[in-house]
Parts: sequence; C-alpha cells; structure tokens
Amino acid sequence: MTDLFSVPLRAVIFDMDGVLTDTIDYHYRTWQRLFDEEGIPFDREKNEELRGLSRLDSLNAVLGDRELPDAKKQEFLDRKNQYFHEFIEQMDASALLPGIAELLPEIEAAGLPMAVASASQNVQKVCTQLGIADKFQKIASVYDVPNSKPAPDVFLHAAKLIDTEPQACLAIEDGASGIEAALAAGMRVLGLGDPQVVGRAHIVMDGLGGVTWADLRAQFETAPAIASSSGL
Ligand code: G6P
Ligand code: MG
Repeated sequence: MTDLFSVPLRAVIFDMDGVLTDTIDYHYRTWQRLFDEEGIPFDREKNEELRGLSRLDSLNAVLGDRELPDAKKQEFLDRKNQYFHEFIEQMDASALLPGIAELLPEIEAAGLPMAVASASQNVQKVCTQLGIADKFQKIASVYDVPNSKPAPDVFLHAAKLIDTEPQACLAIEDGASGIEAALAAGMRVLGLGDPQVVGRAHIVMDGLGGVTWADLRAQFETAPAIASSSGL
C-alpha cells in the first residue's frame, strides 16, 4: 500500500450526527416514540446500532423479518421525521459537540476546505440551526448518491465537490458504517467514541474536545504504528 500518511492533508470531511452535534438521543427518543406507538420492541442498545444508517436502513434494521407494505414504511419514516423535527427546531450552537466551535475556524484559517458527508436527510437544516453551515464548502447527504454508508459513495461525492482526491482527505466519523464508508473511499479516518464501534478507524479518540488542528495534522501526516507494521 502506498503510504497514505505521507500525503499532505488538503481537506476535512465530517460526519454530522455524533461528530458535529449529538443528535443520537433525539434519534433514540423519536424512534422509541414511533415503535412504542406501533408495539415494536426497541431500546437504547438497538439505537446504538443505527448510528450512521439512513432512516430507511434504520427502520429495516429494527423491523428485521417483519414484512410491511412500502406505503406503511413510508408513513413510519415520515412520522419519525416529524417527531425529530420537533427537536431540531429547538437546536442552536449550544448543541455543538465539545471542540467543534474551536476546530472549524482553525481548519478554515489553515486554508483547508471542509465538507459534511452525512446519512441524514436533515443535514442542511441541522447545520444551519447549529450556525456552522457557512463553514463548509459543501454539505452532502446519502440522498445525493446511489448507495448509503457503509458504501463509500457519500464520502467520494463530498471529496469531488470540494475538488480534493480522497487520499488527501481526513474523514471524521462516529459510526461503524461511516468508518467503513470512509475507509472504502480511501481516506484517512478518525473514529470518535467507543473503540468497539469505531476501532477500524486509523486513529480513535474519545471526542474532539481540546483537540487542535495542529494535533490532528501531526497525527495524520505521520505513519502510525499500525500503518508502518507492514515492513516500513
Ligand atoms: C445519521 C444518524 C442516524 C440517522 C441518520 C438519518 O447518520 O447517525 O442515526 O438514522 O442520520 O437521519 P435523518 O435525519 O435523515 O432521519
Ligand atoms: Mg454519525
């Protein structure tokens, strides 16, 4: 493998939910409300498995073998989204995750373009509510591409929109499906959260609180032990 870590970073691509803001609890509460109404078992543990999956993929993951007509599924998806909107209408910059308010201007000042690559259909709305939409050259969602995460499509699409080859992009993700998507896109990947979930990323951190762009650049432009163990 060419040494990915020797390529200078030229762009940063962020997942949204769980990286820029923590909507996971909103997703949990709105799915729980829907499934309670429908008498379908659901809990927080199951919700964790849905990180990074599109709304339809999430519904299918919970339904499992239960057969439902497409029109009924669509009604479930619309109702869930209506409940979710009740939360996102209230969101503002206070919902940014630790470190984001500092990191985005640092990357901007360093002259690197940034993009969002999200599985959420609400990505533009949420970034606007958070007051960070203007930090990104492009905001992409899986609704712009044929295949959702874990396919690489949305990361490749975002990289193309900001005119940067994947090898020069750092992807930041909190979901197992998103980590796989960014790896498949050929990017360097920072995983945030539980190593059991994001352990396939090149580097794993708890979160971005107190993390500077200089820290990230130093780590991602220097071959890590795992990347250099193949004989370098
Ligand atoms: C993100 C979250 C998922 C959520 C998906 C769809 O990727 O991590 O948990 O299912 O977005 O969000 P949406 O806003 O389209 O319902
Ligand atoms: Mg996420």
